[in-house]
Amino acid sequence: MKKHIAVLPGDGIGKEVTRGAIEVLRAIGERFGHHFSFSYGEIGGGAVDELGTPLPDETIELCKNSDAVLLGAVGGPKWDRLPVHLRPEKGLLKIRKELDLYANLRPTNYYSSLADASPLKKEIIEEVDLLMVRELTGGLYFGKPSERVERDGSDAVVDTLFYQKEEMVRVIKLAFELARNRSGKVTSVDKANVLESSRMWREVAEEVAKEFPDVALEHMLVDNAAMQMVRNPKQFDVVVTENMFGDILSDEASVLTGSLGMLPSASISEKGPYLYEPIHGSAPDIAGQNIANPLATILSVAMMLRLSFGLEKEAEAVETAVNEVLNSGFRTRDIGSPGKKMVTTTEMVEEVKATILDNETIN
Ligand code: NAD
Ligand code: IPM
Ligand code: MN
Repeated sequence: MKKHIAVLPGDGIGKEVTRGAIEVLRAIGERFGHHFSFSYGEIGGGAVDELGTPLPDETIELCKNSDAVLLGAVGGPKWDRLPVHLRPEKGLLKIRKELDLYANLRPTNYYSSLADASPLKKEIIEEVDLLMVRELTGGLYFGKPSERVERDGSDAVVDTLFYQKEEMVRVIKLAFELARNRSGKVTSVDKANVLESSRMWREVAEEVAKEFPDVALEHMLVDNAAMQMVRNPKQFDVVVTENMFGDILSDEASVLTGSLGMLPSASISEKGPYLYEPIHGSAPDIAGQNIANPLATILSVAMMLRLSFGLEKEAEAVETAVNEVLNSGFRTRDIGSPGKKMVTTTEMVEEVKATILDNETIN
């Protein structure tokens, strides 16, 4: 099978973590006899500096001609004051739209070895296994108009929350399909007490639920959901929600695992290629210091092996290696605690690679 991967490192720690994840993929290739090939593309602030646009056409072509896309992160203070069409984040939004990546899967798992890294009590986070399904190509992020206006003689602004019903149907259906193979429960998060879009979302969820009699549906208002996420996260299995609510709730959910640097994601479309990226950003505060946690990106590569290439055993090998490295006490700074072995980004990558290559329990 062809396994050609487009790599878009982007800005800040995006470069450091994708470099590490590719090394892990190479180790998987070596151990299991696969050949992965890589082509690099520009996206984000670096692309603006070099080519005058956050998403050059060549990058779009490169992604469309690949079997999977691996992305680091985009953005940073250097580009924060550029006109909106030149912002690095526009590049990310555009590639999501170009590839029609309508659903973003963001799993949050409990690692017993990381219980100390979370500010939450162990009893609260123990055994958490939650899958956030975030709508990714609609809502406030893409609605038009989105602009400064003058209203009644004063400066004003408008952003638009627009959804077509079909856009809701496909992502909610996907959440039900995924729930079927998990514990059989979907929590649909909305703000139906205020927003018309949420009222339609709720109706769609109920229509879709009729096709899945084996899956239980509950609705939850987003403000309550944010509170329940830290009060009693074990009540959740699959959570499905619109674009912006999903963005916010998934950063919150990362605290259950212990750090934003641990959460992977897969963005999927009807036809592929899918795109894999950590949920975190370019972390300008730690970029260039070789201290970022590469595990979110490494775990994103595990999702790639499973979802784009059907390589379940290889995906598990990556996940097992990550678990073992954590169990052995290796920690980047974000998940560090006293008595653990503090390592750099590159050392963490080396540990994961060595575990994949040497560990006899992985085969
Ligand atoms: P961020 O996710 O970059 O960082 C938030 C905090 O988490 C920072 O303290 C950072 O150091 C820490 N952190 C994030 N990833 C980490 C990792 N792997 N290891 C250790 N610590 C980590 O969010 P932000 O600071 O709000 O945004 C910075 C820039 O990133 C902005 O320009 C934003 O637009 C962009 N951003 C991009 C993406 C993306 O490309 N997918 C996602 C989020 C934010
Ligand atoms: C993410 C990021 C992006 C988003 C930004 C950078 C556009 O926060 O991937 O979670 O909001 O989707
Ligand atoms: Mn985000």
